[in-house]
Amino acid sequence: MGPKDAAPILLEGLARLEYRGYDSAGVVVSNRGLKVRKVKGRVADLAKAVPARFKGGLGIGHTRWATHGVPSDVNAHPHLSADQRVAVVHNGIVENATELRAKLEADGVVFASDTDTEVLAHLVARTVEDTASLEEAVRKALKSVVGTYGIAVLDAERPGEIVVARNGSPIVIGIGEKEMFAASDVAALVRYTRQVVHLEDGELAVLRADGFHTFASGGLETAKEPLTVDVEAGHYDTGGYEHYLLKEISEQPETVARTLSGRLDERFHIAHLGGLNMDARETRSFRRVKIIGCGSAYYSGQIGAQLIEELARIPADAEPASEFRYRNPVVDPDTLYVAISQSGETYDTLAAVQELKRKGGRVIGIVNAVGSAIAREVDGGIYLHAGPEVSVASTKAFTSTAIAFALLALHFGRVHDLSPAEGRRIVDGLAKLPAQIEEILEQGPAIAELSRKYAVHPSMMFVGRVRGYPVAREGAQKLKEISYIHAEAYPASELKHGPLALIGPELPTVAIVPDDELLDKNLTTLGEIRARGGRVLMIGHREPGAKLADDVIVVPRNEIELDPILLTIPLQLLAYHAAVALERDVDKPRNLAKSVTVE
Ligand code: F6R
Repeated sequence: MGPKDAAPILLEGLARLEYRGYDSAGVVVSNRGLKVRKVKGRVADLAKAVPARFKGGLGIGHTRWATHGVPSDVNAHPHLSADQRVAVVHNGIVENATELRAKLEADGVVFASDTDTEVLAHLVARTVEDTASLEEAVRKALKSVVGTYGIAVLDAERPGEIVVARNGSPIVIGIGEKEMFAASDVAALVRYTRQVVHLEDGELAVLRADGFHTFASGGLETAKEPLTVDVEAGHYDTGGYEHYLLKEISEQPETVARTLSGRLDERFHIAHLGGLNMDARETRSFRRVKIIGCGSAYYSGQIGAQLIEELARIPADAEPASEFRYRNPVVDPDTLYVAISQSGETYDTLAAVQELKRKGGRVIGIVNAVGSAIAREVDGGIYLHAGPEVSVASTKAFTSTAIAFALLALHFGRVHDLSPAEGRRIVDGLAKLPAQIEEILEQGPAIAELSRKYAVHPSMMFVGRVRGYPVAREGAQKLKEISYIHAEAYPASELKHGPLALIGPELPTVAIVPDDELLDKNLTTLGEIRARGGRVLMIGHREPGAKLADDVIVVPRNEIELDPILLTIPLQLLAYHAAVALERDVDKPRNLAKSVTVE
C-alpha cells in the first residue's frame, strides 16, 4: 500500500511466490469499493485478466494451492463478504470451517465458494460495522477460528489500512518509503525493501502507508525491531538458466562454499558453530541425537545421523517430523534434537519443535531461511546461507544441510574422541567439496543423455547400502517429484527380502556404489539384478562395477563419510534432465508447493 498502484506490485510479488502454490490466483484493489479479478491458472493468466485501468494504491493478492474446493475462478482468493465490503486472502487451513459455515448459513449467509477461507470474510463482515477498527473486527473473527492462518484483510470502508495476522503460516511485513508491504515470504518484497518484520504466531498487524503497528493476540501492542534481509532481488531470477532447478543445482559449488565459510578451523581441525549457543561441556552432555525434518530434509537428516554416529560415536537417528509430532514422543533430557528445514516454515516440523519445547527438549535448527519461524523457535542452530531456493524440488539446500551435519559431527567428534588427525582429514575433505561438485556438474551433458535413455521407463528402483541408502532415497524422491516417473528406494541389502521379485528388463535400477567397505556387497547386489535381466545405472567411484552395470556415472572420491554428498549431485541432474525430456513443469511439479505451511 502507498502512493503507487498496487496491482502491478501485487502481480510481480505473486509471480515470485508462485512456487508456493499455483493452481489459481487473484487480486483485489480498493478504490471507491473493491475491484476483484481471480482466475484458475497461473499468475500470468491473472495478469492478462487484470485490465489496464485497475487503479488503487491499496490491494491484496494470492496464489493458491487447493486444500478445500477444486482449483477454479470462484475458489481462488481473495474471498469477499456478501456485501463486497471485506476481502480476505489466506494461507493455512480453517479446521472448523464446516461448523462455522453451517452457523453462518443458518444465519442466512450465502457462500460463493467451497473454500474454508470464505468463512473468514463473512466472520469479519459481521462485526466490522459495529467495531471501532478493522483490527478489532479481525481479532473477534479469529477468536472463533480453529486452524492455521496467515491472512491479509481489506475493508472497503477503511481504504487506508490492511490488517494481517499469523498463526502457523508466515507473514512478513516490508517497510518502504511512505509505502508498506506484507507477504508470506520475503521473496515478494525484496524488489521494494530489505527492511522486514516477521510476525509471531498469534500476532496481528495494522499497516498504513506511513507505518505499522503490531499487537499480541490479547490486543496489547508489541515492539518489533526491523531486520535487514541479505537477499538480492537477483536471487529470485533464473539467471539465464532455463529453470530455477538447473540454476540451483549449478550453484552448488558456491552454496556449499558459503555453508562452509568461516566455519572450518585449519589449526585445531574443528568446526566453528557459534550459532549453536553451546559450550564444550554442554556439547559433551548429550547422549543421543534425534533429527527431525520432512521429505528431502528428513533424508538429509539420515545422512546427518550417519555422520554423527561415525565421527562422534553418539547414537543418532532421523525421523519424519510429521510422524514424530503425532506419536507423543518421549522427550529425553539427554538427547539433543535437531530440526531441519530449508524454508523454516514447514508446519509439521515447526509443530514438532513446539511439542519438543513444551516438553523441555533442547532443540537446535539447521535452517536456510533467516528469521523464519523454525529459526526463531529453536535454541540455536546452523544457518545454511545457501540463498533462496525457489524451485519446488530441494537441491542446494539438501547438500548444504548434509554439509551442516558434517560440521556438526566434526564439532561433536572433536569434543569427544575424534583425534586432531581425523579432524584434519574431515576438514580437508570438506574444503575439497566445492571443486569436486564442479567436476560432477561438468558431466551434465553425459548425464542428460543417460536421463533421456532411462526416462522411457515408467518406474525405477534406487538402491544403496548404509551411507548410500539415504542417497538412494533422495534420488528416488527427486525423480518422482519432478518427472512423475515412479521410483522406489530400498536398502540394497533388503532387495533379496522382497523387491527382487520386481526386477526384470522393464524395471531399471539406479545403484549407489561408493568405494567403501561395502563395495563387494554392492557389486554382489548388482550381479543379482543383472542375473534377473535388470538394467543397472551405477553411481560410484570407479569402474569395477562397469562390467556389472549397463551405465556408470563416476564421481570424484572424497572421504568415505562425505562421499554421500557428492553422490547426490548426479541424481539431481538425472531427475532434472528426465523431467525436461518428459516436458514436465520442472520448477512447479503438479500437486506440490514449496513450503508446506499446512498440516
Ligand atoms: C523435496 C522437497 C520437500 C521438502 C520438504 C521440507 O524436494 O522439497 O520434500 O524437502 O517439504 O521442506 P523444508 O525443508 O522447507 O522444511
